[in-house]
Amino acid sequence: MITMEFIDLLLKRRSVREFADDNITKFQLNKILEAGLLAPTSRNLKPCNLLVVSNKDTLKQLADVKKSGSKFLADADKAVIVVADSLKSDTWIEDSSISLAYMQLMATSLDVGSCWVQIHLRKSKNDEDCEKLVRDIIKIDDFYRIVGILALGIPKKDIEPHTIDDIDKDKIHFLV
Ligand SMILES: Cc1cc2nc3c(=O)[nH]c(=O)nc-3n(C[C@H](O)[C@H](O)[C@H](O)COP(=O)(O)O)c2cc1C
Repeated sequence: MITMEFIDLLLKRRSVREFADDNITKFQLNKILEAGLLAPTSRNLKPCNLLVVSNKDTLKQLADVKKSGSKFLADADKAVIVVADSLKSDTWIEDSSISLAYMQLMATSLDVGSCWVQIHLRKSKNDEDCEKLVRDIIKIDDFYRIVGILALGIPKKDIEPHTIDDIDKDKIHFLV
């Protein structure tokens, strides 16, 4: 692993939607999953399960659930579906989101490309609920909620990192 300043890791993280044919290593995958499970959760209830998808047909099915913004899942090496038990915690949206963000940062640190694919609140091209479609593909009960899926793979090309100048400082306010 490359040791870098945390700010450089934040700048380096970009959404990767084009993947090479290479596979990510077991080491990279395990570190990414560990990061997802190290994310903090409300009341430490840990409602999130991480379901790793490698099967090409299933990746293609997942790529088709949304009207847009998910097609690249078909070319990803792996997808991690964050499956939250909503009976365990009412903050499943927050907990799933932090888990996704932690996994993206770990992926970046290991030169693995990733992109968040939003599922919760999104519709298919036939106006069906994307969460229901994903639940049907992976055959799980309705109380499991899916905020998003993380596409993972080796980036096909280099993407420019963000720069410090991209930070919109106007968004920072100090209450007097
Ligand atoms: C909550 C959330 C939902 C997102 N959903 C999608 C998505 O469904 N498809 C997609 O291609 N990118 C998605 N993204 C990625 C954003 O488009 C991306 O983070 C944003 O454009 C900034 O680009 P960057 O990640 O390269 O910095 C999502 C990001 C977040 C945080």
